[in-house]
Amino acid sequence: MKKIPVIIDCDPGHDDALMLMLAFGSGLFDVKAVTTSAGNQTQDKTLANTLKILSLIGANVPVYRGCEKPIFRNLVIDDSVHGESGLHGIEWVVPAFQPETISAVEGIARILSESEGKITIVPTGPLTNIAAFLLAFPNLKDRIERISLMGGGIFRGNMTPLAEFNIYADPEAAAIVFAAGIPVTMCGLDVTHKAVVFQKDIDLFRAIGNKSGEAAANFLEFYSRFYRENRIELEGGAALHDPCAIAWLINPDMFKTKSCYVAVETKGELTSGATVVDFYNVLKKAPNTEVAYDINREEYIKMLADAIRSLP
Ligand code: RIB
Ligand code: CA
Repeated sequence: MKKIPVIIDCDPGHDDALMLMLAFGSGLFDVKAVTTSAGNQTQDKTLANTLKILSLIGANVPVYRGCEKPIFRNLVIDDSVHGESGLHGIEWVVPAFQPETISAVEGIARILSESEGKITIVPTGPLTNIAAFLLAFPNLKDRIERISLMGGGIFRGNMTPLAEFNIYADPEAAAIVFAAGIPVTMCGLDVTHKAVVFQKDIDLFRAIGNKSGEAAANFLEFYSRFYRENRIELEGGAALHDPCAIAWLINPDMFKTKSCYVAVETKGELTSGATVVDFYNVLKKAPNTEVAYDINREEYIKMLADAIRSLP
């Protein structure tokens, strides 16, 4: 079966790390590169965490350093969830390789211009790198098959009542991406708060018995503490956001989605960073986004476990 060519843009981050495990462990993706965004932590830390997690799972692919901050705004990091290092428990890993010497924007341009076919972009952090690329290389936009992202929400937020972190961190970048005319799959909070991992699932990952399963369990033990203290509605579970963007590419039938017109609010005093999802098509505008709102959680956990099992 032909592998899906992808460029992954992420800000590890504990759920980003599980997303990378799924991407590489599934064996279904030709990962052309990983680019790093500033979001869960600073660019220095997300880059270091990316090199460490890829080294841990034996995935030696080109890594490109992304933008240091949002296009217009100051950097807001999400250390309340991901802690001081951004990826608790991997500090001991010595990266097996260094990042490329050119920037993420230039790396994405080089890969797309040299690729025979179209490539899917999978962002799971703020969209700064993707927007910067689209501004710098508009002629290469048509080389992108789809953007399958984690971000946004139909009727909810986690940084404000209406804004999800990845969009909130750089609303102008997100507005550029959703308006670019590229097919988007949006795995927002409506679906990721159903893509929940419980202690039994963490124990399942640890019982796999390999290095990756141990790391995944440690990551999730740390990551779950925020959700157990602050998202009591999830009844002890933690929303495992980022792997959804990869899981949809593996098996879209595992999700419920709706084709909607989506735009991003960048000005509102209370609403900046909101993904404005026209769920009932009241604007009568052509849909630009597949919006995910439900998932088969059991299948999701099995997919993750199968991927982790195939890693070192
Ligand atoms: O709101 C959830 C998103 O913010 C996830 O991508 C998580 O990693 C953080 O970046
Ligand atoms: Ca992320």
